Amino acid sequence: MDIDRRSIWYDHAFNKTYGGFFPSDRKTPHKVSLQPHDSVREDMLHLICRSISDRSVDGALAELGVFQGETAKLLHNYFPKRRFFLIDTFDGFHETDVQHESREMGVQTTVDHFSETSESRVLRTINPSTDNLEIIKGYFPDSITPSLSESRFALVHLDADLYNPTKAGLAFFYPRLNPGGILVIHDFNAWPGVRKAVLEYCESEKLIPLPMPDKSGSCVIIKPIG
Ligand SMILES: C[S@@+](CC[C@H](N)C(=O)[O-])C[C@H]1O[C@@H](n2cnc3c(N)ncnc32)[C@H](O)[C@@H]1O
Repeated sequence: MDIDRRSIWYDHAFNKTYGGFFPSDRKTPHKVSLQPHDSVREDMLHLICRSISDRSVDGALAELGVFQGETAKLLHNYFPKRRFFLIDTFDGFHETDVQHESREMGVQTTVDHFSETSESRVLRTINPSTDNLEIIKGYFPDSITPSLSESRFALVHLDADLYNPTKAGLAFFYPRLNPGGILVIHDFNAWPGVRKAVLEYCESEKLIPLPMPDKSGSCVIIKPIG
């Protein structure tokens, strides 16, 4: 009995009750356009949202590395009633991080990578149905606000590509995850700095990053209960 509509064992009754890859009260997803060949990531994020919803994990949402807001659109549409922090320079990578990446990882990138965005563009993409979005613009972690520090989280998506912000994001968000909350780190199997930051943090905190089979190899960390 499968969840995927394309499977010959697709179980309509089960999916009608539990929503399949989508919220149980909807027949179809909100349209997002993550890269078209990355439907695994889209499905993964829907199932992770559903797990948080089914287990009634309290808390806000956050995304570090928003770019044009496609993943943020998916997350907001799943949880429109939750506070959602959107954290980005909205101007691309920072010079300090680019230099660090080149020096320590041997990865050459530039400050204009991902600069073709803005807060208004992100808001147009998400088209929020509530006023629960809070944009935090600037270099993370310098951009951390009191409202972000005081929040507790159910779901955090780290997608900043580079070592420095990923390291800072793990140190900031993991302690603020509620029990049963989930951290998704994109590019664990794509950008070397992300992988290094995750492995270092997990080793120091005795955590296990669970690898996912999406295009860029996300990984997932769940905060234990109790
Ligand atoms: C891959 S893009 C995010 C894509 C987005 N999550 C999506 O799924 O469409 C990476 C983003 O991380 C942001 N970023 C990288 N380092 C950052 C830092 N130190 N502070 C804030 N934003 C940063 C970049 O500006 C860029 O928009």
